[in-house]
Amino acid sequence: LPAATMHLNDPAFFARQARTRRHNSHKGSYGNVFVLGGAPGMAGAPVLAGRAALHAGAGRVYLCFAGAPLAVDAGQPELMCRAARDVDFTAGVTVAGPGLGGDEEAARLLAGAVASHQPLLLDADALNLLAADASLGLAVAQRTAPTLATPHPLEAARLLDTTIGAVQADRPAAARMLAQRFNACVVLKGSGTVVAAPDGRIAINPTGNAGLATAGTGDVLAGLAGALLAQGWPAWEAALAAVWLHGIAADMLVAEGTGPIGLTATELIATIRVALNRL
Ligand code: APR
Ligand code: MG
Repeated sequence: LPAATMHLNDPAFFARQARTRRHNSHKGSYGNVFVLGGAPGMAGAPVLAGRAALHAGAGRVYLCFAGAPLAVDAGQPELMCRAARDVDFTAGVTVAGPGLGGDEEAARLLAGAVASHQPLLLDADALNLLAADASLGLAVAQRTAPTLATPHPLEAARLLDTTIGAVQADRPAAARMLAQRFNACVVLKGSGTVVAAPDGRIAINPTGNAGLATAGTGDVLAGLAGALLAQGWPAWEAALAAVWLHGIAADMLVAEGTGPIGLTATELIATIRVALNRL
């Protein structure tokens, strides 16, 4: 297996990445995360991503709705709710895609975030929009700020214009191809999540279990990785740590009996925080 696989079993790797908080730091020290999503009827996905970003240490988290914005997330009032058209995506990291939908307005908002010169995470409908628009793909590839993409196998198949079967037959090859095409770190999700960098590096995540096979866990991963980017982690390290933490949190919950059956994406979030603080 490639050397990077070792990092994912190596506590010292994570210890090196862990960022201690300076005593005199403030919320501006830990970055802004803008979750771009929330088309009509799809508010849950950005809420999960935003809650995960907050619990993973981002200084400020904004939920930016393509549709009518929620007034507040009553279960997490720290999240700031905005209409996406009013948001300046140049002021922080954007996590684009959770429940974003696929209409023209969604595409326009996504193009704005792609042009931001800030770290960008592409998930879910952002990836579907990317698969449908070659010029947007080119704009992603030409970005100079870090890009991280988190496709599940179907999203990867759409991006590669192939089938899920072909993606799954050689997951490292599919991840590496996408990383090179989009000049992005790519997280190809599913059991044995593959992380690929544009320079050809590959890692396979050893943590996680089938308790994660439930709606919303992908949104939580996107918010977690976005928060690490906002706190200054480089894309490769953010991707590795996010998939490892997401998986170890699920493993911790299964060990205490909160899963695999019936584990919820919401429950994962607080345990990710525990795992992150123990790095
Ligand atoms: N073992 C380990 N990890 C797993 C397993 C498993 N058996 N099953 C799922 N996971 C992990 C994946 O690696 C990933 O991190 O759970 C997460 C699932 O993410 P997604 O597939 O994106 O699922 P979800 O968040 O529910 O998103 C569903 O996303 O792409 C859109 O339109 C799609 O509505 C759908 C939504
Ligand atoms: Mg998803």
